[in-house]
Amino acid sequence: MIRKHFVHFIVPVFFLVLSCAPEVPTEEPAPIGLIADSAMVVSAHPLASKVGADIMKKGGNAVDAAIATQFALAVVYPAAGNIGGGGFMVIRNADGSTDALDYREKAPLAGGRDMYLDEDKNVIEDLSTKGHLAAGVPGSVDGMVKAHEKYGSLAWSELLQPAIDLAADGFELTEKEASGLNRYQENHMDANTITPEFLVKEDGWKAGDIIYMKELAHTLELIRDQGREGFYAGETAENLVAEMERGNGIISLEDLARYKAKFRTPVISEYDNYKIISMPPPSSGGIALVQLLQSVEDFAIDGMGHNTAPTVHLMVEAERRIYADRAAHLGDMDFYPVPLSELMQKEYNVARMDSFDPEEATPSLAVSEGKPAVAESMETTHFSVIDPAGNAVSVTTTLNGGFGNKVVVAGSGFFLNNEMDDFSIKPGYPNMFGLVGGEANAIEPEKRMLSSMTPTIVEKDGKLLMVVGTPGGSTIITSVYQTILNVLEHGMGMQAAVDAKRFHHQWKPDTIFVETNAFDSTTMQSLEAMGHKLMDRGSIGRVDAILVLPDGRLEGGADPRGDDAAAGF
Ligand code: GLY
Repeated sequence: MIRKHFVHFIVPVFFLVLSCAPEVPTEEPAPIGLIADSAMVVSAHPLASKVGADIMKKGGNAVDAAIATQFALAVVYPAAGNIGGGGFMVIRNADGSTDALDYREKAPLAGGRDMYLDEDKNVIEDLSTKGHLAAGVPGSVDGMVKAHEKYGSLAWSELLQPAIDLAADGFELTEKEASGLNRYQENHMDANTITPEFLVKEDGWKAGDIIYMKELAHTLELIRDQGREGFYAGETAENLVAEMERGNGIISLEDLARYKAKFRTPVISEYDNYKIISMPPPSSGGIALVQLLQSVEDFAIDGMGHNTAPTVHLMVEAERRIYADRAAHLGDMDFYPVPLSELMQKEYNVARMDSFDPEEATPSLAVSEGKPAVAESMETTHFSVIDPAGNAVSVTTTLNGGFGNKVVVAGSGFFLNNEMDDFSIKPGYPNMFGLVGGEANAIEPEKRMLSSMTPTIVEKDGKLLMVVGTPGGSTIITSVYQTILNVLEHGMGMQAAVDAKRFHHQWKPDTIFVETNAFDSTTMQSLEAMGHKLMDRGSIGRVDAILVLPDGRLEGGADPRGDDAAAGF
């Protein structure tokens, strides 16, 4: 395994060998994403990206565009885009100042640590993932209001109107959206107390069908006209609480009235001469990303190759150790003393790799959390924005599972989240992403559940370089980690870095989940010989990112695994 300080000796030899090497057939050209002069939005849906870009054409800034994109996604991408969920926004202003907005859901006042256990303290299946009791108090609307109050430049009503028009006038379904709605129709109508008529199409949805969301349009109009009161009070709040009462849920009017999004200090760290700006708790994403990068920083990954056995082995061994830390140490800092700065010390993470063997996998059973010296279906969604002034916004927002808890609030037309499953509902019991946890992430009234969402911004030499993030539950952190290294270490452009095949390890289960054809047969055999277990996992994540090119133009990376699209000018 090559350590960075040896690379100076190795690189010239490598190039000498290359220059003497016989000509090899040229490879396929690297994919290149949309190139724009100065402004871009990359999101999970072409209509939402267009909404955001249009806002910036009207003179809105990146936060204005992000707010309009969040509301548009709630309409055109209802499986994950939302007003009934929550999320995180990381901001880097053109002057270099940074900020982070936490609009994560929280546990209802009537919630408690054993709320998903029966009288014998056994977990009641599906209770934390499907139906009314699975919902946390939604944060998205208050988050957008707070973002607008602090950073918005256009009128609030202008940011809501495109989403209202899409919901009221209807829009064309893509093929992926049509199949998602058909799966929902087949499997999840039973979660509702009243059939959400707008979602029902007896002969099934197909690409090109127009869908209308009149009730949602009305709710968005209330939010447009009354701000946070349009959601957390009055008609919408009453509909939400009535929905809870019909389905044995516990979110009350008081829960809604008390919900407050919070600005927090972003997690900031160095990786070589890059600055990493990401989300602090209640997300585990920023801390774990920094820990992963610090764990591998001293290795010459650029010389080791992309998705080769040595590179994958090194990255997986770091993932195994850092996810063990996540399970033990991370939770909502308003409720639990997370050793944040200790976990992000380079020496600590280098020491965590002391047991790393370049030839052999360390079984997860032999790995437990470190002891930092003390003085958190896969349907989240991410979008990245850069405006003409150079302000950058990275937003990951979620209902947790696809269509959240599957419940549509009758009369208001929006899905509720099933974010309560992101708590540790019983110590050591895996959540829907297989993640385990303990005391740090136990349920308490008004506590925010631990997240893996990792909206991130990267600077190089003090200048904006990249805006990046992805959905994918527990795989979010490792997808962001790989995408960043694809650019920083493997020299890829933004689209190529997003397209590149991914893999994931989360300590438990002790398995590397691998996208189909991510590794060639030699790499797979080498990894298995080192003791790794590999499992095919279809696709991992939907990364949407923007790279600032050396000439100042922007390259979008829109994930081909979904309908994701870049829009810019
Ligand atoms: N609901 C996925 C996450 O927040 O990590």
